Amino acid sequence: MYLVYSDTATLADFVAGVLVEQIRTRPESVLGLATGGTMEPVYASLLRQIRQQALDMSRMRSFNLDEYIGLSASHPQSYGAYMRQHLFDALGFDPWRHHVPDGCAADVQACCSNYSSAIRAAGGIDLQLLGVGRNGHIGFNEPGTPFDSRTHAVTLDERTRLDNSRFFAEGELVPGRAITMGLQDIMDAREILLVATGPAKAATMAAYHESATTPALPFSVLKQHPRVRIVLDAAAAQLLPASACVRGE
Ligand code: F6R
Repeated sequence: MYLVYSDTATLADFVAGVLVEQIRTRPESVLGLATGGTMEPVYASLLRQIRQQALDMSRMRSFNLDEYIGLSASHPQSYGAYMRQHLFDALGFDPWRHHVPDGCAADVQACCSNYSSAIRAAGGIDLQLLGVGRNGHIGFNEPGTPFDSRTHAVTLDERTRLDNSRFFAEGELVPGRAITMGLQDIMDAREILLVATGPAKAATMAAYHESATTPALPFSVLKQHPRVRIVLDAAAAQLLPASACVRGE
């Protein structure tokens, strides 16, 4: 079943509310975090709810899904900068508790295996937040990625680079490579919340609904996870059968 909200603002409040509840019940939770346009209203709502409820975030830890190779954390389009801008700075977060892969690591291989190990050493991810690319990628696990992959370096699809060029200045090239948590790292999370909004994701969601579990559509792996919630706005859900959708309140 897909949980469908009529508008993005209400959806963002719901998703942020799930994160708040997770932290309230288990303040030392390990969250898996995503970036991208989908998450901007979610983090804005999360900040509002944290402030309104004076929620203690000091024990929460997090691991972000991915980072561009070649962008330092100070580059404005890096995912490190995104997280500081949308969440971490406002909460005075300790960078030692909140992890983003190092896009400028001298040894990318070591950086990747250390990242997967650090997730395990933290006790694993309690709740993983995911967006989805139009080609079905989660993190930057592009079509064809093996389901048993751990954190690794990837070459981005041209379509992904084109989609993400909206975040870069005109004429500035989107990096061609990235580090991403692997599909197995994502599947190891105890609970997963995938969010998709806007008409550009409607065909992607229809493909998910109709597809078998196949590496050609990376997020179809989620069909094998026992605790996944898929939360959509009406635009992203428009090609799904009504019988598969539940209206969010
Ligand atoms: C970002 C990430 C990606 C995005 C996906 C959707 O950390 O892991 O998988 O979630 O590319 O991006 P938006 O939300 O910009 O459509």
